[in-house]
Amino acid sequence: MLITAGPTYEAIDSVRYIANRSSGRMGIELAAAARDAGWDVTLLLGPATLSPPEGCRVLRFESTADLDRLLSENFESCDTLVMAAAVADYRPAAASAGKLPRGGKLVLELVATPDLVAACARRRRPGQRVIGFALESPELLASRAAEKLARKGLDAIVANPLESMGAGTIAPWILLPDGRRIEPAGPGGGAMSKSGFAAWLIGWLGGGRGPG
Ligand code: CTP
Repeated sequence: MLITAGPTYEAIDSVRYIANRSSGRMGIELAAAARDAGWDVTLLLGPATLSPPEGCRVLRFESTADLDRLLSENFESCDTLVMAAAVADYRPAAASAGKLPRGGKLVLELVATPDLVAACARRRRPGQRVIGFALESPELLASRAAEKLARKGLDAIVANPLESMGAGTIAPWILLPDGRRIEPAGPGGGAMSKSGFAAWLIGWLGGGRGPG
């Protein structure tokens, strides 16, 4: 199982970057739960995250471009990709060499990053599964999760309320391409620990079906 976790850092200059509040906790808990279920786990882990679990192969990334490269090296050999990383949507068009001096007005030109999970979904082979996350404010979550599931061509998407970023709990539900909605905390949903949700998700994915 290939799992991604954490934020990306997009360089502005040699010392500054654009990032987000992801702690990596959800993906780290998923890696631990997958390992416990007998999977052979590779965790692609971003900067400034919590410590990775023992017993997983851990490869570190910093930028979206680094993560893109690691996915191209590791996606083909996985059975399931769980894309929990909080990938930047934009990066500075060019990182300045050295440190930008202060003074006057500074305008940053940003360019869109490629959609990494969508690219993996497009090149997956039969039987290979690609699971994404959708982080949105509660009132937009249902419609945006459905739209992202379809646009990215995923096998399932974890709808994840905005408040869970950096927190210990999550109030998630899963949306499938046939429109089915699965609520791990039972009808009506509710918050659960990220470790509890990780164990549930790995079980739902068929824990222990690791290579060999
Ligand atoms: N994702 C990705 N590559 C990107 C941005 C996001 O692979 N450049 C993945 C995330 O890891 C997550 C899913 O796409 O699994 C949804 O991420 P989210 O930020 O919620 O959606 P966006 O693609 O950014 O959609 P939007 O542009 O509508 O915000």
